[in-house]
Amino acid sequence: MAGSFETVGVVGLGTMGAGIAECFARAGIAVIGVEAGPEALTRGRGHLEDSTGRAVVKGRLSEAERSEILGRVTLTTSLEDLADADLVIEAVPEVMVFKRALFTDLDRICKPSAVLATNTSSLSVTEIAATTGRPGRVIGMHFFNPAPVMRLVEVIHTLITDDGLAGEVADLARRLGKTPVTVGDRAGFVVNRLLLPYLNHAAVLLENGVATRDGIDTAMRLGAGLPMGPFALLDLIGLDTSYEVLSVLFRESHDRRHAAAPILRERVAAGLLGRKSGGGFHRAAEPEPAADEPSTGLVAVLGEGGDAFAARLSAAGFKTVPVQDAETVVALSSVPVVELAPGLPHPERLVGLHLVGDQVAEVASTALTGPEVARAVEGMVRLIGLVPVPCRDRAEFVVDALLYPYLNDAVRMYDSGYATRDDIDNAMRLGCGYQAGPFETLDELGLETVRDGLRALYAEYREPFLAPAPLLEQLVAAGVRSFRDLP
Ligand code: CAA
Repeated sequence: MAGSFETVGVVGLGTMGAGIAECFARAGIAVIGVEAGPEALTRGRGHLEDSTGRAVVKGRLSEAERSEILGRVTLTTSLEDLADADLVIEAVPEVMVFKRALFTDLDRICKPSAVLATNTSSLSVTEIAATTGRPGRVIGMHFFNPAPVMRLVEVIHTLITDDGLAGEVADLARRLGKTPVTVGDRAGFVVNRLLLPYLNHAAVLLENGVATRDGIDTAMRLGAGLPMGPFALLDLIGLDTSYEVLSVLFRESHDRRHAAAPILRERVAAGLLGRKSGGGFHRAAEPEPAADEPSTGLVAVLGEGGDAFAARLSAAGFKTVPVQDAETVVALSSVPVVELAPGLPHPERLVGLHLVGDQVAEVASTALTGPEVARAVEGMVRLIGLVPVPCRDRAEFVVDALLYPYLNDAVRMYDSGYATRDDIDNAMRLGCGYQAGPFETLDELGLETVRDGLRALYAEYREPFLAPAPLLEQLVAAGVRSFRDLP
């Protein structure tokens, strides 16, 4: 019974551990927080005080409630103080030897009925469980950063978890106001297996110069509607943690999609770990883009939707003219536009434009586009109220290049039988703050559109992971329009 978890130990009071301790204390559960030494303990106390203090400032908690919450947390540097805890959850760094050593100690110290839980992001819960003399009482309880805010808890059971324990721990998660998603023990579980390859892919695009850090972040926030761009999120999660998760995924899959981008490894090696070290990807401002070039406003608009776009430009004072008179040729397109260049009198004046949602315009430069022409188009789209994201003229540009492979991964995960579509959708909505889960997004975009985008990506890069998932191909071939139509 979940009600029997009345005292909970949390080992490791870094960002995640302190957030987890706060979740339990807020739910009225007594918490024993353990850190390795006095300094780390003071830091952990600081996390708890800051987080609850912010909630008071925002009027979400009264001072009295805050004192009650903090009063439920006992801090100690001695693991022995966990002897009577009903459940202990560890949130120490993602290094298997640390975890195994800790679980050996916890197994010795904690009462036989206690549940030992790990907040590992990706390591094998089975391997950790096997360290103990109570493998049936060891489970994964995976929270998301920031733990007091994100509503998901992944509950990970192994082949040897006691019957019923996953259900009890899921009930406990509900008691914390969270939504549990219960799955088996596979590297990355649901969220990290879908999230980290996407974040890594963003780093690959950055490394390949497809777009800038800020451009990619903006595109994913405003174009795809995500709460944070990938580089801001990597900084929040920690580049070291992200690198570790990717390494674990790669060891299990040997899939290049999981091979950490060198740009990520380099930053980790340099100690640029993200928010916790004062910066990772967002350590320094990117150089200001050069000022927009003045444009006389003679623009030709090509492509589907060109007339409506030309009308918007005209309303903003631009003059739309035939291609031969244009200083700028804008080709509205969702595919690379360079094929149009040889047919133009001035191929250096050609820029591809891909409108994403109602806020973002990806401004694609071909190998021939003049930099001043691209800047003129950026200024032009700004004038009509869109946010320009300069990028190279590559398959699916930025947003779709990142979004479609993630959706493809979700289809593969579902098809493998690891998790249900609802669980995957819930996990991404509640764990990452997405407005929609991947299957909801697939339905909205259209299965055929996503399949075609993946085919284009595969044709460009020849990476096996970009080939549409067999299930997606089959559903499109069968004329299925929505995952909702499946049993
Ligand atoms: N601790 C406690 N509370 C916090 C917080 C923190 N670190 N950061 C933000 N909050 C609270 C704020 O106090 C605020 O609360 P109220 O609404 O009660 O006032 C609320 O969260 C929203 O915060 P803000 O208004 O400051 O900021 P925002 O609206 O931009 O939201 C965010 C911030 C919640 C972080 C949002 O950007 C978001 O959802 N981002 C996605 C985060 C994500 O994907 N997390 C999962 C990462 S993967 C992971 O953790 C797993 C792993 O193993 C690697």
